[in-house]
Amino acid sequence: MNAPILVTGGTGTLGRHVVPLLRAAGHPVRVLSRRGGPPGDGVTHVTADLTTGSELEPALHGVATVLHLAGGAKGDDRAAANLVHAARRAGVTHLAHISVTGVDRVPLAWLRAKLDAERAVVDSGLPWTVLRAAQVHDLVLTMLSAMAKLPVVPVPGGLRLQPVDAAEVAARLVELTLGAPAGLAPDLAGPATLGLDDLLAGYLAATGRRRLRLPVRLPGRAGRAYRDGANLARPGATRGVRTWDDFLAERLPRPGGQLTSRPSRD
Ligand SMILES: NC(=O)c1ccc[n+]([C@@H]2O[C@H](COP(=O)([O-])OP(=O)(O)OC[C@H]3O[C@@H](n4cnc5c(N)ncnc54)[C@H](OP(=O)(O)O)[C@@H]3O)[C@@H](O)[C@H]2O)c1
Repeated sequence: MNAPILVTGGTGTLGRHVVPLLRAAGHPVRVLSRRGGPPGDGVTHVTADLTTGSELEPALHGVATVLHLAGGAKGDDRAAANLVHAARRAGVTHLAHISVTGVDRVPLAWLRAKLDAERAVVDSGLPWTVLRAAQVHDLVLTMLSAMAKLPVVPVPGGLRLQPVDAAEVAARLVELTLGAPAGLAPDLAGPATLGLDDLLAGYLAATGRRRLRLPVRLPGRAGRAYRDGANLARPGATRGVRTWDDFLAERLPRPGGQLTSRPSRD
């Protein structure tokens, strides 16, 4: 019970939800990131860059359980391989890892790196759990806000998302991390499947903005995969409860405003 759980990326969007939950369950937590953070009750920080793999040995010293959340735009495959190498040397008995829904079905470079990261975990020889989650509300909001900065917003037709609450993803990750190694867990997605166009329309309405929306067709195999819904959760997925509208109403309250994002077909 007293060995710390190592949470890589514990300072990030998901990590900030995960760490207090692990603490509430009575576990000391060691957070690994490049920039570190302020120590807290039962929480220590180590700084290391997973993509270079240096300084990992002390980070894993005395650790039996690892939750690997650290990730970025590039290098997640290398980061996972380095972590696995260090975890094996440290005798880790459970390596839990977050991945992304559709990681094995959408042919894009960053998803290929994510899939290779998954493979490093699966082939590690260590007991493992992988949870593939849909995009969290916060990420969708950041994406829509970036899109809405343009005077004319290109909107890829047929692209659907299943925004899920970060706190719900964190709760599931903690459950899986503290449980027995489960292999590939059922995907986790939000309660509704929403078209990007509807998400953008709801965001523009909530922020009182007007923008011209220009439908565009995503090219190539990746475009076709998105139109086919290859990025969506697999059948049998766990669905979160908190809706996108509830999240948006809390983040962008409008006096008397009603938000209506129409769910599309699943
Ligand atoms: N957000 C989503 O919607 C979503 C959905 C499904 C899966 N995921 C996956 O979940 C993971 C966490 O997502 P998030 O949204 O919490 O990400 P985030 O907010 O960008 O946080 C990333 C975390 O990883 C750390 N990190 C990044 N690169 C690192 C490196 N090379 N070495 C050590 N630490 C590193 C960051 O800290 P420093 O910058 O200080 O290093 C930070 O703590 C990612 O792998 C992501 O792909 C996210």
